[in-house]
Amino acid sequence: MPFSIPLALERALATLLPALDIVAQRVDDASVPAWCEERGWAAYLLGLSEQDLQHCEAEGLAVVATSLRNVPDGLIELASRVRELCALPALTLLPASVEPDFRGVARRKQQQLAALLAAIPPLVARAKRIVDVGAGSGHFTRLSARHFRRDTLGLERDPARVTRAYAREQDDDGQRFAARYSVVDAVRDGIDLRDDDLAIGLHACGELGDALVGAVATQGADLVLVSCCLQKIGAPCRLPLSDAARGLSLRKETLGLSNLSSQASGVETTIERTMQARQARYALRHLLNARGLHVEPGAEMHGINRRQAHTGLASIAGRALMLRGLPPPSAAELSETQQRAACDFAKIRRLSLPRDMLARVIELAVVLDRAALLVERGYAVRVATLFERAVTPRNIALFASRDPARLAGVQSTDS
Ligand SMILES: C[S@@+](CC[C@H](N)C(=O)[O-])C[C@H]1O[C@@H](n2cnc3c(N)ncnc32)[C@H](O)[C@@H]1O
Repeated sequence: MPFSIPLALERALATLLPALDIVAQRVDDASVPAWCEERGWAAYLLGLSEQDLQHCEAEGLAVVATSLRNVPDGLIELASRVRELCALPALTLLPASVEPDFRGVARRKQQQLAALLAAIPPLVARAKRIVDVGAGSGHFTRLSARHFRRDTLGLERDPARVTRAYAREQDDDGQRFAARYSVVDAVRDGIDLRDDDLAIGLHACGELGDALVGAVATQGADLVLVSCCLQKIGAPCRLPLSDAARGLSLRKETLGLSNLSSQASGVETTIERTMQARQARYALRHLLNARGLHVEPGAEMHGINRRQAHTGLASIAGRALMLRGLPPPSAAELSETQQRAACDFAKIRRLSLPRDMLARVIELAVVLDRAALLVERGYAVRVATLFERAVTPRNIALFASRDPARLAGVQSTDS
């Protein structure tokens, strides 16, 4: 059956709204959160073997639940709903006829750019101009100008990135279809689009994505949007854009959960190393609290590069204490903290599984709300994954046009 945006949104809301207490309460220590206690899931989760835990962390509880025994009914039902929801159509991409010039572009960004360039020709065909919103250092703006021989405009808030983008243009002169850039805060100042524009947001973060969808809905351009960092909003809560998602108000911290990705080999590191680093951070917070400092979760690493957590407790503890004007940790203090943290963190990992499983549902609910607004404004809309998750876990693309015939050329596994 073709992917239906109203139906998918209805299912996402039916899954997420009754589970908002789960996403609202993080598992920051080893005590059983209220949502887990109330649903009677604690004993099951805390009894998971290390092997099953690792499997769940690598693949997601939603996927693994079918192969586990004695999963509580409510949890298995939630897992099955999440699994169904997250089965999105995938874009089928034709290789580009001309290899874009990716010099100076990081490998994973190259893969994203290649996929986006391959996906959009049906929409570019009628576009007079391509407007790249949140253009960063201008890679897509520049490449699409060359590739499609179109006028392109990159809108970017950060002047340093625009300077870098122009510097690249000068490296590559003699082109008729030049990319132009404008330093603008597109959320504060709005986005001026024409109805024959194709607007692109490649990883347009948080409220920039909402602003872009709002501008398209009122100004009539076509759109391709890949969302990311949904928590980057000025307000404490994100309110829905569409009538269909009425009631879907998501707090900033809840939106932050959507950044979590579940895969055996993370984008930058392995899950095992990620867990070791998280345990070291947990241990550091514990150590600082034991020294009489009251440190909120996340604040333990203030002033320290987050990657340092991969080097283990001893080095980050020394640095964190020095930054706070305190004496370094003793060997006994480190050893005792490490033992306690290992025990607590084993529980935290298990208790976190149901909440982590909902990360993708939050992301999807926001994408579907954006899609639903465009549907309500008369757009034809398609939602599909554009990249492999190994390229980037923020891989859901929204395609929209007032002309359904244009979207028909955007091929996905459900069409
Ligand atoms: C995640 S980066 C993506 C950059 C680029 N599209 C890419 O994929 O490489 C998001 C970009 O949006 C820009 N941005 C965020 N909010 C903005 C706003 N309100 N107006 C204009 N640009 C904004 C950021 O400065 C950043 O360069």
